[in-house]
Amino acid sequence: MVAVIAIDGPSGSGKSTVAKLVAEKLGWFYLNTGAMYRAVGISLAGRNIPCSEQAVSDSVLESIDVDFDAEGHILLNGEDVSDRIQSPEAARYASDYSKLSAVRRRMTALQRKIGLSRPSVVEGRDIGTVVFPDADYKFFIVASPEERARRRYAQLKEKDPETPATLDDILKQQQERDSQDAKRALAPLKQATDAILIDTTEKTIDEVVERILAEM
Ligand code: DC
Repeated sequence: MVAVIAIDGPSGSGKSTVAKLVAEKLGWFYLNTGAMYRAVGISLAGRNIPCSEQAVSDSVLESIDVDFDAEGHILLNGEDVSDRIQSPEAARYASDYSKLSAVRRRMTALQRKIGLSRPSVVEGRDIGTVVFPDADYKFFIVASPEERARRRYAQLKEKDPETPATLDDILKQQQERDSQDAKRALAPLKQATDAILIDTTEKTIDEVVERILAEM
């Protein structure tokens, strides 16, 4: 098998930033699977397709092509949607539609295909448990709910200083999304039994990156 590092954890735990840096340091591909679910989410919601097993069939999903360009930007049917998938709505659509079996089947197959085409750092919720259960290295990244919400809020403020959202709103949305991601029947957010747990609440990004690289 081609080398894979699996990094899972809840939203705002710092896993995206860390996974990206680890990939850069190793010269490996960075695969953000949350971005893939977000792209599918905005596509389905944009077409008003109900979030149900009946409505989201394999054939509906065949009309949705998700891929990455050479710079790692996410493409939805050929269009770069890197910016559009950053919104809180896109996060909610991703969490909602990612419960459905056809969505998970298609995304899991695509993630395996992309991840196995070259050494990759793959980041998500079910990478160490479902997508790459035989990954060479597995990490589960967590942080306190307050710290995670604070990070998300700072990111949002930096992008849009006029945002009407409050820290409290972010904390509430985060709790709803984490609970939905952890309680769903298919591939829930969960630490693989052989994953190394890293709590980033009081760690700098560099410390976490070094901690991961120390395992290589
Ligand atoms: O990592 P993120 O916040 O961009 O992920 C958005 C949503 O996508 C998340 O709330 C649940 C879903 N997701 C998933 O079900 N499985 C993954 N491997 C990655 C994300």
